[in-house]
Amino acid sequence: MKLPNLSDARKRTDKKTEYIYLDKEYDKSIFKGKKYFIKTYGCQMNVHDSEEISAHLENIGFSKVEEMEDADIVILNTCAIRENAHDKLFGFLGRCKHVKTTSNPNLIIAICGCMAQEESVCSTIKEKYPYVDLVFGTHNICDLEELLINKSEKQNIEVLSCEGNVYENIKYKRDSKFKAWVNIQYGCDKFCTYCIVPYTRGKQRSRKSADILKEVEELVKDGYKEVTLLGQNVNAYGKDLDGELSFAELLQKVADTKIERVRFVTSHPWDFTDEMIDVIVNNDNVMNYIHLPLQSGSDRILKLMGRRYTKDEYIKLFNKIKDKVKGASITTDIIVGFPNESEEDFKETLDVVNICKFDSAFTFIYSPREGTPAAKMDDKISLEEKEKRLYELNELINNYSLMNNKKYVDRVEKVLVEGINEKDSSKLFGYTETMKLVNFEGSQDLIGQIVDVQITEAKSFSLDGKLKR
Ligand code: 5AD
Ligand code: SF4
Repeated sequence: MKLPNLSDARKRTDKKTEYIYLDKEYDKSIFKGKKYFIKTYGCQMNVHDSEEISAHLENIGFSKVEEMEDADIVILNTCAIRENAHDKLFGFLGRCKHVKTTSNPNLIIAICGCMAQEESVCSTIKEKYPYVDLVFGTHNICDLEELLINKSEKQNIEVLSCEGNVYENIKYKRDSKFKAWVNIQYGCDKFCTYCIVPYTRGKQRSRKSADILKEVEELVKDGYKEVTLLGQNVNAYGKDLDGELSFAELLQKVADTKIERVRFVTSHPWDFTDEMIDVIVNNDNVMNYIHLPLQSGSDRILKLMGRRYTKDEYIKLFNKIKDKVKGASITTDIIVGFPNESEEDFKETLDVVNICKFDSAFTFIYSPREGTPAAKMDDKISLEEKEKRLYELNELINNYSLMNNKKYVDRVEKVLVEGINEKDSSKLFGYTETMKLVNFEGSQDLIGQIVDVQITEAKSFSLDGKLKR
């Protein structure tokens, strides 16, 4: 039993990151015939972690099922960024309990991901959720085989709070055969005052570029069409290592593998260099799509958030990217209602939105995360006021999304076909180079291919199109 601890999670020492190359072979007969169901909440990092968790489970013989009711083990890979993530998890746990008490008393219920790293969550589980069998943290994923092989009847909470290491040789069970996530760095040292990530994910650790490039080259060999380089602070890549490539240099090398599409998330404006812009401009296979979180347009709030840039600096960077990268689409994240955000502060945010006219944005009401500096700030703004601001912001964002999308009508776009439209099975869906969702009619054998689609109609959140033959 190892419970998480906030003060350890916050610590940054000069301890060197260890690079651990996994090589242990497991006996696949241990859990042969047993099934796992995995539910993933949150960001792409979590989606990719689930692909790693699947690898560890399949190493010891488990196979995947799509319904919880068919499973012997349920893994809930959680997110801690915002409040509703907590509600969702505890809601879903109720469903798991029902299955365990009615149809499958041997069901193993396991919780992992960022919420597992939170002290308060683990103590709640310990006290009130005795039917949860296992909790393992973001730094314990590689121990999963051992945790299950040695599992006892008692609830086990194994959550390390530490700066973290880098594990290599993970045989990811990827959800897609044509687009892949590739971690390039883990953790974050920015400590934005509202954010829990530096506590749940540990310090910034970059993978070695040789390991990353080997992974990408293998993906190319396996026929993958797209890689997305992942990091909480993707463009701070390499800053924690001596003599390692910069992010721009790594991006160039990934482009040199000739994979058809390269993307990267999430960039911090503070680490966005001119060299990065040049690499995007000079390589057709580096997509002209950039996610660039703004968070707030008010200098006062940006300072309180610890974001390291001003409104003007953000706008300057935005304009530089737009000027240099032809046809770039830029999306953002915005938080409304940071403690004591005034009406004037909020107007500054609207002002940036009116200047930048983002292609789209993820917008959030600020939610205090226990242990972060912002959670200690007193806040006199009512939730009602924050909801009003969010509504106003979303209206504005949606207008600009539609306006930007309308520019695509009649254009022919390259679309990587991802699958069948859930609502209308006669249609396929995929994404343009600029990350616009496109729905169009076509045969299922196009899934996984890049095709030309003529755009016929624009909506706020998607485009309709017609396959070009
Ligand atoms: N409250 C609201 N939104 C948050 N985000 C991160 N932490 C919080 C919080 N405490 C948002 C930021 C970030 C995105 C992933 O989630 O906008 O960019
Ligand atoms: Fe959180 Fe800021 Fe790090 Fe992004 S840069 S993960 S918002 S602390």
